[in-house]
Amino acid sequence: MASLGLRFFGIAALLGGLYVPVCHAVTTVTVSATASHTIPTTLYGQMFEDINHSGDGGLYAELLQNRAFQQVTPGDSSSLDPWVAVNGAELEVIADTDPVSSALPNSLQVTIPSDATGSVGFSNPGYWGIKVDPSWTYNASLYYRFPSESPYSGTLTVGLESDTGEVFASNSTTIDGSQTSWANVFLTLTPSSSASNTNNSFFVTINGSEAAGEIVNFAMFSLFPPTYKDRPNGMRIDIAETLAAMKPTFFRFPGGNNIEGQSFDTRWQWNATVGSLLDRPGRMGDWGYANTDGLGLLEYLTFFEDVGMEPIMAVWAGYSLNGESEPEDALAPFIQQAIDQIEFVVGDPSTSDAAALRASLGHPEPFYLNNVEIGNEDFFASDSYVYRWPDFYGNLSAAFPDLTFIATTYPFDPVIYPTPPHYDVHVYQTPDWFIENAFYYDSFERNGTTYFEGEYASISTNASNLYGTPEEGRFLYPTMQSSTAEAAFMTGLERNSDIVFAASYAPLLQLANDSQWTPNLVNYDAGTVYPSTSYYVQQLFAVNLGDEYIPSTLPTEDGTLFWTISRNSTSGDTFIKIVNPVTDEQDLLFDLAFTTVASSGTLQLFHGTQNDSNTPTTPDLITPQTSTITTGQAFNYTAPGYSVSVITVNAS
Ligand code: AHR
Repeated sequence: MASLGLRFFGIAALLGGLYVPVCHAVTTVTVSATASHTIPTTLYGQMFEDINHSGDGGLYAELLQNRAFQQVTPGDSSSLDPWVAVNGAELEVIADTDPVSSALPNSLQVTIPSDATGSVGFSNPGYWGIKVDPSWTYNASLYYRFPSESPYSGTLTVGLESDTGEVFASNSTTIDGSQTSWANVFLTLTPSSSASNTNNSFFVTINGSEAAGEIVNFAMFSLFPPTYKDRPNGMRIDIAETLAAMKPTFFRFPGGNNIEGQSFDTRWQWNATVGSLLDRPGRMGDWGYANTDGLGLLEYLTFFEDVGMEPIMAVWAGYSLNGESEPEDALAPFIQQAIDQIEFVVGDPSTSDAAALRASLGHPEPFYLNNVEIGNEDFFASDSYVYRWPDFYGNLSAAFPDLTFIATTYPFDPVIYPTPPHYDVHVYQTPDWFIENAFYYDSFERNGTTYFEGEYASISTNASNLYGTPEEGRFLYPTMQSSTAEAAFMTGLERNSDIVFAASYAPLLQLANDSQWTPNLVNYDAGTVYPSTSYYVQQLFAVNLGDEYIPSTLPTEDGTLFWTISRNSTSGDTFIKIVNPVTDEQDLLFDLAFTTVASSGTLQLFHGTQNDSNTPTTPDLITPQTSTITTGQAFNYTAPGYSVSVITVNAS
C-alpha cells in the first residue's frame, strides 16, 4: 500500500490576510529495480465489429451507400436509399430476371422519360457525405445492361458534385443499347478543386433527349478514394492511420454481436465475404443495417499485416442474438465452417480447399494467427455453451493444436468443461466502477488461466440505468471523467498482465451522423476523424509500454490515485504511468531503486476537467502535451485532476 507523507507546498493560500502553507498528502511510490514478469506482446489492441457504420461507411473506404442493393426488398421505398433521381429519371430497384450475379439479384432500373431533356440520371450522397479532394483520384465503377435491345448509343457521365450543383469532377464513356448482357464501366475521377464541405454526391447521367424512353439496368456501383497502403478494395486512410497510431498489437473481429446474426441464417459467414465483390451477397448485420461484406476476411487480414497487428478472430459458435442455440446434434456443419475459416487464414493450400482459395486470391503464405475466440458473450446462452464449448473447442483444438482458444463466458457461470485456458471478459460500467475495480484481477488465482478484457468502456454515470439515454447519464462521447476512470482500471490490467494477455476498449468506431451505440473510441464523419479522450488514453498506454513489468508500492485499493510502471529491458526506458481520475491534484514522490536514473525525462500529460470531451464540435479540446521533466532516483510529481501522465525516464 502507498504511504502518505505530508509536504508543504511552496504556494501558500491567502487566508484572512495571512499566508497559510497549503498542506498536501504526498504518496510515496518505491519502485523496484527488478521486473516481476514479462508483459505479453498482445496487451493493448482493438476490438472491431460493424456497428455505427464502422465497416461500411467507416474503415472500409467504399464511398457509396447501398452500392449493390444487397439485402433490400425490391419495391420497398427504402430499397433505393440513399439514391435519388436526377432531373426526372424514374428509378426502381428490381429483382432482375438476369442479375449481374446470383449473389446480387437486385438491379437499379432507370427509365428515361419520353419528354426528357438535359442530363438525366441519379445520384448517391455516400454515407452522409462525400469528401472531395483534388489531390485524389477516385475509381468509379458500375455495371449496366439494356433489358431490351435498342438502337440507342450515347454518352454516360459519372462525376462528383456539390449540393448546389457545382461539378468537381466528371468522366464519360459511351454506352450502347445493343448491350443486353452486363458490361462493366470503369472511370477515374480527378476533382479540379476541393469542396468546401462534404455535402457532395456521386452522379450518373445520360443525355435525356437522346435517351428519351430508354430503360437501362445498373448494378454493383463502386466509388473508391485512395486507400490505406494503396490496397484495392481497402481501408479509408485517415481512419486507418488513426487506428495504426494507437500502435495496436491485435484486432479482435468480426464481432461482438455482429458475428452472431439475429438468426442462424444471418450470422457472419467467412466464405460469403471472400472472392469477387460480385459473389458477396452481404447480410443483414446485427446493428440494423445491411453489411456489404466488401470488408471481408481477406481484407481484414491484409489490413492487419499492413498495420503490424495480429488477429484475435472469432468463429460463430452456434448461438444467435434472437436467443436460439443450435442443438448439439446439429453443430457439425458449423464446426466444419469454423475449421474452414481457420484453414483460410493459416492452412496449407496443398491440403486445404479453403487455404487454396486464399492462395488463388493472392496470398499463398499463411497469415499470422494465434488466438481464436469461440463465439461472443456466450454467457447469454449458458445452457447451450455447456455443450457448444466442448464441441467447438474439442474439434478446433484437435484440428489446430498450435492455436489458442478463448471462451466467451465468465469463469464462474456457466462452469464449462474442458476448463477454458482463456476467457474473454466484457464490462460496460460507470466511471466509479472502473476506479473501484482497478484491483479487479489482483485477487485472481494464478492457475494458468489467462484473460482477455475484450470489451470495456465507461459508458454512463447512472449505475442503475447504464444503457439509458444521455439525459439519464449515458455518455455520447467519452469525457475526461470516463476516460481517466478507464485509465485507472488499465493500471490494474497492466499490473496483472501476468494473467491479462490482451485488452481492448469497445466499440472502436462511430460514424457521428448515424450510430447505434455511444460512447465510442474514435468518431468520424465523411471528411474528418475525431479521436476521443479515451482514444488518447488507449494510445498513451499502448505506445508507452515496456516488455517487463516493474513492481512498485501498490496504490491504495479504495483510493483515487493509480500508477503502473513498465520498462524496455533493452533500452532501459522506463514508463511511469500515473492516473488521477478525480478533481483534485495529487502529489507523489517516486523513489527508484535503479542504480542509475537519468536526471531528466519526458512527460506526456493528458488532462482536463471532468466533462471535457473531444467531439465533432470540439475536436481537439484535450490532447496529450509533451514536455521535459526533472527526474532522478527520487523526484516529486503532482498529478493534476482528471489526468493521465506518462513519465519516460531511462533507468538501469
Ligand atoms: O460493443 C457493443 C456490444 O456490446 C458488442 O457487440 C457485444 O459483444 C457487447 O454486448
